[in-house]
Amino acid sequence: MNRSSKLAEPLPLPFSGKVALVTGASSGIGRAAALAFGRAGACVVVADSSVDGGHATAAMIVENGGKALFVQVNVTRANEVEALIDKAVSYYGKIDCAFNNAGVEEENLQLADGDDAMFDRIMNVNVKGTWLCMKYEIRQMLKQGSGTIVNTASVAGLIGAPTQAVYAASKHAVVGLTKTAAAEYARSNIRINSVCPGVVKTTVLARALENDPEREDKLKNVHPFGRFAEPSEVANAALWLSSEQASFVTGHQLAVDGGLTAI
Ligand SMILES: NC(=O)c1ccc[n+]([C@@H]2O[C@H](COP(=O)([O-])OP(=O)(O)OC[C@H]3O[C@@H](n4cnc5c(N)ncnc54)[C@H](O)[C@@H]3O)[C@@H](O)[C@H]2O)c1
Repeated sequence: MNRSSKLAEPLPLPFSGKVALVTGASSGIGRAAALAFGRAGACVVVADSSVDGGHATAAMIVENGGKALFVQVNVTRANEVEALIDKAVSYYGKIDCAFNNAGVEEENLQLADGDDAMFDRIMNVNVKGTWLCMKYEIRQMLKQGSGTIVNTASVAGLIGAPTQAVYAASKHAVVGLTKTAAAEYARSNIRINSVCPGVVKTTVLARALENDPEREDKLKNVHPFGRFAEPSEVANAALWLSSEQASFVTGHQLAVDGGLTAI
């Protein structure tokens, strides 16, 4: 082969031949990750409770030349999560990479001001939803003999978060699920890690600033970079953890926080 024809060969895409499942993929970090997996060559299962946003994400992947399937799911319901995994496997044959990212935030409240309904809503989506997704993904990955899982925790899974006690508890629980499952399934060739974002420019942030625009600078400045993260910056970390480049990384909580937890 002469040198010029070798140079003309395109580099293989890092997730070519892989199937990636992303929950919470209708918007924000999940959409950015679904698009990134699609660009990197994966067949993407776009999963979310929101139908319009989910179809829109899948359409964007296809417009960019990728492959995508949207599946509506409420991650708090075991039968729906099991059906999601079945559908993904019947459509694409397997699930190589799962990014369990669906989550809900808490309005700013001191711990003693919260109510039961708020507690149940946050724990249901952030903890039970993540646990259910891991459970059915791991069952499938055990059959395949391999797989990677990344969960979206938060800096609030690593340190306290005043006015977000229940959210912080839920994200500490995600870290607990991640570490324990990583140890349980390492010898089954399944790697399990978390990303722990600082404040990211998504609808969650927009809602948080809606009634209190003056918080913007204060919130930016808790990050040594003095800015918020872009959703794609968190997505990139999730893709790296899902990739062969991270082959000896499991049970890790990767802070994507502009240095917030360094100080
Ligand atoms: N935005 C931030 O500053 C920030 C910081 C740290 C962690 N996070 C975490 O990142 C993840 C993504 O959040 P985002 O900021 O992109 O917000 P987002 O609201 O844009 O995305 C969350 C997605 O989850 C979906 N979802 C919610 N409940 C669901 C359910 N029961 N079943 C299925 N889908 C459901 C929503 O429809 C939405 O598409 C969440 O887990 C969140 O806690 C966000």
